[in-house]
Amino acid sequence: METRRIERAKNGLVGEIQIPGDKSISHRSVMLAGIGDGATHITHFLRAQDCLSTVAAMRQLGVGIQENDDGSLDVTGVGLHGLTEPAGVLDAGDSGTTLRLMLGLLAPQPFLSVFTGDALLHKRPMGRVITPLSQMGARLAGRQQNKYLPIAVLPAQQPLHGIIYPMPVASAQVKSAILLAGLRAEGETTVVEPVVSRDHTERMLEAFGVRLLRKDTSVTIKAPKQLVSPETIDVPGDISSAAFWLVAASVIPQSDLLLRNVGVNPTRTGVLDVLRDMGADIAVLNERVSGGEPAADLRVRSAKLRGVSFGAEIMPRLIDEIPVIAVAALFADGDTEITGAGELRVKETDRIRAVAEEFRKLAPNVEELADGLLIHGGARLQAARCASYDDHRIAMALAIAGAAGDGVEIEGPGCVDISYPAFYRTLEEIRR
Ligand code: S3P
Repeated sequence: METRRIERAKNGLVGEIQIPGDKSISHRSVMLAGIGDGATHITHFLRAQDCLSTVAAMRQLGVGIQENDDGSLDVTGVGLHGLTEPAGVLDAGDSGTTLRLMLGLLAPQPFLSVFTGDALLHKRPMGRVITPLSQMGARLAGRQQNKYLPIAVLPAQQPLHGIIYPMPVASAQVKSAILLAGLRAEGETTVVEPVVSRDHTERMLEAFGVRLLRKDTSVTIKAPKQLVSPETIDVPGDISSAAFWLVAASVIPQSDLLLRNVGVNPTRTGVLDVLRDMGADIAVLNERVSGGEPAADLRVRSAKLRGVSFGAEIMPRLIDEIPVIAVAALFADGDTEITGAGELRVKETDRIRAVAEEFRKLAPNVEELADGLLIHGGARLQAARCASYDDHRIAMALAIAGAAGDGVEIEGPGCVDISYPAFYRTLEEIRR
């Protein structure tokens, strides 16, 4: 089995990092540009496995996408009614976002499409999108009574109709799937969330000229005539990727990092709030807005952290950052209690279980709760060999724990390519 050793960073992490493009926004940019009425140039697109699954699927549906040497994309939109029947099966790879959002895009189409994905994606629940899309009149069929991949989207025999859908859990993927189906449904489509999840789809639809009604935790869409392609979309850096460095520099003494071009959409900045509550030294600099999304540079320096408690209310704003926040908790004084995080059990892997099992090999005091984690901070970490479960965020959280502690050997380290191909290289570059 392939492994990778990460040594302790004895003299801190210092330097500047260009944070790679936001994964969520990259997916949406290529989907909406693909059904826009013209050409869109996308800069800072995240060229990592997950987003490339979306590129491949959109190409199979007839969209022209050129990948340029500078990392940008040129997408030739086929129009809201222009996607065509794919000749083969679509493959979402490991990407839940590709699959769930594209089911919404495909639900109203008059042609057949079939989706597959990798082994991890086959275990993740898809009933949560199939149920509302079926209520809109779409015809979808998945394995085990419409719960899992593979999934077939049968040709729509008549236009979908709008619904009012109260979502049982806050999920940007489910919300987005319904809104994308709503682009071609008769009447109005309304999604009501318990807590507002990331709103990148809403912001990008607006950037394509679609009018939405947003009120409290609900959003309503009415089918537009077309999506007006903006000339360019500049994708800000991914705060979920920046989070690894925010924690690393906080807990490794003598660190000072400048993270360039980080998306700071308020539906994503829970990690900043929690780290600051813990006592982290983070400055938000050069705030600006680009393509409807706020971005900034973040400077982070070492600080003494203390334990905190947080739960369901903030969860949608930091759900993907829990594994690395758990690393911060290992180095904090006192206990950190994380609750209301049950959704973590259905991510790329069961992340509550993975963090509890693997972190316990490094430090004794990590407890698994039904819907979260209890971490007693301050113990000295020991070196160990830990499993990534092929989950990119588990692998990167382990790497930061090892660099801050006494080293770690990661089994299956290559999965970082899902969202952050340059991760290990960057860690070596900033190590002093
Ligand atoms: C995402 C939404 C979240 C998040 C995932 C990306 C998105 O998932 O965990 O990494 O791009 O919409 P859920 O919608 O399942 O909460």
